[in-house]
Amino acid sequence: MPDTSFEDKVRDAIANPQNMGEMEDADAVGTVGSADCGDMLRMFLKFGERDGERVIDRASFQSFGCQTAIAVASMATEMLRGKSLDEAQHLSADEMSADLGALPPMKVHCGQMVEGALRSALDAGAQEGDRAEAGADNLAASLSPGGAVAGKIKIVPRTDNTETP
Ligand code: FES
Repeated sequence: MPDTSFEDKVRDAIANPQNMGEMEDADAVGTVGSADCGDMLRMFLKFGERDGERVIDRASFQSFGCQTAIAVASMATEMLRGKSLDEAQHLSADEMSADLGALPPMKVHCGQMVEGALRSALDAGAQEGDRAEAGADNLAASLSPGGAVAGKIKIVPRTDNTETP
């Protein structure tokens, strides 16, 4: 049963979630919320440098949401370590949740929320740092003050607590 398999994978992923919790020395923070389900996810990024290029040294997350979002965020924060900002910009929700297999339709927005939080944090990092190109076609750039529709859900950027320390 595909659903059982998906649920087992989520259960395994959240049994020992990686990189969960606030990062006090984060260089950038991105927070998004889903207006539909009321869940919220915040991603923290710490940047480093490799061969003169800015890379993600560490990533962590806080989730005020469902288990699928926690599972995807856990996998995403592991995946992000060592990625250049450009590589991170191009990571899709599907790639970040690949280990779970295809997300059931009701859970697609959970992965999109993780992607939105990552984009928001990357944009915050670009503004705070060297004004690196944030990418014009990313999710956060498309968000209007009232929120934007990504898939079937409306993702709303949260500006509270998004300042960098
Ligand atoms: Fe809304 Fe998972 S049900 S983030």
